[in-house]
Amino acid sequence: MSKNSIKPVIADADAINHAADLLRQGRLVAFPTETVYGLGADAKNPVAVAAIFKAKGRPADHPLIVHIADMDSLGDWVSTVPETALKLAHRFWPGPLAMILNKKPEVPLAVTGGQQTVGLRMPDHPVALALLKSFGGGIAAPSANRFCRISPTQAMHVSEELGDAVDMILDGGPCQVGVESTIIDLSGSRPRLLRPGHITRQEIEAVLQTKLMTPPTSNAAPDPDRLSANTPALEIRAPGMMTVHYAPTTPAIRCPAEQLPDKIRQLIADGKRIGLLSYQLEITEINQIRVLRLPEQAGNYAQSFYAGLRELDNLQLDLILVEQPPQTEPWRAINDRLSKATA
Ligand code: TXA
Ligand code: MG
Repeated sequence: MSKNSIKPVIADADAINHAADLLRQGRLVAFPTETVYGLGADAKNPVAVAAIFKAKGRPADHPLIVHIADMDSLGDWVSTVPETALKLAHRFWPGPLAMILNKKPEVPLAVTGGQQTVGLRMPDHPVALALLKSFGGGIAAPSANRFCRISPTQAMHVSEELGDAVDMILDGGPCQVGVESTIIDLSGSRPRLLRPGHITRQEIEAVLQTKLMTPPTSNAAPDPDRLSANTPALEIRAPGMMTVHYAPTTPAIRCPAEQLPDKIRQLIADGKRIGLLSYQLEITEINQIRVLRLPEQAGNYAQSFYAGLRELDNLQLDLILVEQPPQTEPWRAINDRLSKATA
């Protein structure tokens, strides 16, 4: 962390009102949500939105999620709100679900990465909601990390990631969910799951009474609506379509529990300094190995996952080993992020 890094401030009412003023001036404010910390700007101000891309080092054609204060605000961003969106918002908002919908003409292309759709989410965090209320508009906010790096789940992580590229960091404590929102695309003829998260496919399918399509990476059939000339460009912007993402700077690999002892012995014999992110396996810490044991329950694991990965990443190790968690539904979002962190 550089000495010019912005220090987080406790998110009391004064700090939140000040943050809202900064947003009105087109400045950048990092704030907590229930999933991860976001790097926020006034979603209707293209200059402010451009500053987000610059701070993150993110390509400008990569769309942002707009955070809104309530369901009624959907109409500010979307011309016709589909029934499916209303049902999902009723059931899951405020909460870790982002919906991709066809945008209103006046929504700046800067925020949608040039697309005719916009991502919307009402976060379930008192600080985020108070900030949205005080600001009185939509806040565009990607995760507050540098492009392709680990998402921040604590205010200090934002300082470490962004230094002084952000004007204020609101500290609302550690994030409760710990992985980014589930993203569902409702802009085509059939709903598609773009990014797995805390809210599961089954929960969404139960509300919509229909099966969700999955993007081509997960072996699902492509949406016939999207087989247009510009499909590849569109697809590549969807989250998770890039293989390296959410990644530590230290090389990281996944390894099944039963292979770990051998793997560790071999790496130590080669003189490597390694970190282990385990969830079940008990391994005694010795000089060349730093062990971080995460909780055994998927939700609790998710909560501490990015912080754990970040902690090991800061130790200048040669390699991070991640004990492969179960491949079951509650672990789906974690496995998705792990596959990208270890790509
Ligand atoms: O949990 C979250 O969603 C966090 C917190 C801060 O709310 N935000 C977050 O934002 O993860 P970000 O920008 O890191 O990831 C948002 C993803 C991007 O990968 C982007 O491709 C996708 O949402 N997205 C946003 N708008 C989209 C659109 N119109 N079409 C397709 N994908 C979109
Ligand atoms: Mg992100």
